[in-house]
Amino acid sequence: MTGRLEGKVAIITGAAMGLGAADAELFASEGATVVITDIAENEGQALAEKLGGTFFKQDVRDEDRWIEIISETEKKYGRIDILVNNAGIVKPGDPENQTTEEYRLTMAVHMDSTFFGCKYVIPVMAKTGGGSIVNMCSIASVQGESYVAAYCAAKGAIEAYSRAVAVHCGLAKNGVRCNTIHPSGIATPMVASVPALMAEKFGSSPVQDAPVDVNKVGEPLDIANAALYLASDESKFVNGAQIRVDNAMSVVSGNMPE
Ligand SMILES: NC(=O)c1ccc[n+]([C@@H]2O[C@H](COP(=O)([O-])OP(=O)(O)OC[C@H]3O[C@@H](n4cnc5c(N)ncnc54)[C@H](O)[C@@H]3O)[C@@H](O)[C@H]2O)c1
Repeated sequence: MTGRLEGKVAIITGAAMGLGAADAELFASEGATVVITDIAENEGQALAEKLGGTFFKQDVRDEDRWIEIISETEKKYGRIDILVNNAGIVKPGDPENQTTEEYRLTMAVHMDSTFFGCKYVIPVMAKTGGGSIVNMCSIASVQGESYVAAYCAAKGAIEAYSRAVAVHCGLAKNGVRCNTIHPSGIATPMVASVPALMAEKFGSSPVQDAPVDVNKVGEPLDIANAALYLASDESKFVNGAQIRVDNAMSVVSGNMPE
């Protein structure tokens, strides 16, 4: 099947690389017009040019910039059908050594941005009959990952907030749906950066409490395929759902057999 997003306009934050870039590539290949936003200007611009979309430089913590980008996108394309709140960072730290600055930064990049994105895109989506908001969570929203404590808090907040958005939109009958994706262990620049960040924070033996085969990594397309489903009309009856794409990482009770 092709053209699963034909005629749709999608904003994807943090799409210059990693999972967001994979979403943008797949969405464009399925007929969507993609609006890529990121703080990484060169990579974001290059990808937008390659995919025939638009790039906006955006720090997702900035509320005014959200208002501008949503308004510019609506002006340029006449509609917004999909928003993927994807931009993210990880700052290792346990509940005792996570700094207040790291905590506030993590909450702002993840949760503030999701709040702003939902708040300003819902009325625009509603004007053309609805849309799909996909908020990137993590299995950190359902597991106690003690070494990324603030990240757990941020992802847990996004999961809970997304349910509120889903119910609000359902009650408002505005056609907007909101769901979350919970990945783990997907090979991206973020995941590649974690060992060094962990060593910096915790010393030479970083805390690892993942019970399954951590050497088995997924690829960004594994997540993009889930995002495509949620973004498309195939998921028109799916609202307020959480989709884990983690190779059983969050549900296993012990080590997976070899
Ligand atoms: N890769 C995984 O296994 C995994 C697991 C769980 C959750 N996630 C989540 O998926 C999302 C994407 O992660 P990824 O692995 O692709 O990370 P990544 O670091 O590879 O890409 C993240 C992107 O976000 C951008 N970004 C960072 N801060 C920003 C800001 N303030 N404003 C705008 N853009 C900003 C970066 O420039 C980058 O392009 C994140 O929300 C992450 O928490 C990823």
